Amino acid sequence: MQAEAAGNGAEKAIEAGYPAELIAGLTPALTASYSGCGYLFDGLNFEGDETVVDLGAGAGLDSFIAAKQLSNGRVVSVDMTYEMLQKVNSQQLSINLLCADIEYLPVLSGCADVVIANASFNLAISKTAAFSEAYRVLKEGGKLVARDLIKTEELPAEVLTDPLSFNTSLGGALEEEALSAEIEKAGFKDVSISDHRPFSYVTSVKIEARKPYPGP
Ligand SMILES: C[S@@+](CC[C@H](N)C(=O)[O-])C[C@H]1O[C@@H](n2cnc3c(N)ncnc32)[C@H](O)[C@@H]1O
Repeated sequence: MQAEAAGNGAEKAIEAGYPAELIAGLTPALTASYSGCGYLFDGLNFEGDETVVDLGAGAGLDSFIAAKQLSNGRVVSVDMTYEMLQKVNSQQLSINLLCADIEYLPVLSGCADVVIANASFNLAISKTAAFSEAYRVLKEGGKLVARDLIKTEELPAEVLTDPLSFNTSLGGALEEEALSAEIEKAGFKDVSISDHRPFSYVTSVKIEARKPYPGP
């Protein structure tokens, strides 16, 4: 049962775009509960001393991948589900667990070099609050790199009428233009939405944005 679950998580990650050789090198426990919607580390290079905040970290696959690249930095893995955080492999790695709501983050302003998030912004009731908090905790010049889900066509009636559709990651997905506007409204610049991939009734995308330095 354990092995089957682990295998599914690894397959799901590879299907979502994680390099097979990367996943093959990880223990099954790390991938078993993967529930993200894509690989966000392409082109994201770390110096080694960064503070990375993972919003909606779940069981922590991305937190682990980031932490492995930090010789002298730290990852703050934020999730409001205590059971998910218990699965995060925080042993011997600089991963700090934080059970909290990404819409009201108990995290110091301006502390993060990079904020990552995988399939969690769509679950936020207030996208405005979630993106504003991501912006607040970033340092000036810091980056937001996320994968999330956008709506590209009208959802089927059974989804639209499902009282729990938000929890299935479908009900809370915005259209691309609305998502981009929410990110910009928080103050982010250079907002890019790319790498569109089909994902159930919606589409997985990569989101990149930057918190600007104050300027004239
Ligand atoms: C679809 S899962 C993705 C988990 C993980 N990022 C991954 O790639 O496997 C979304 C996660 O976001 C968390 N989450 C949803 N809304 C949240 C919120 N408002 N605050 C904190 N965590 C939240 C859920 O508990 C869940 O673990």
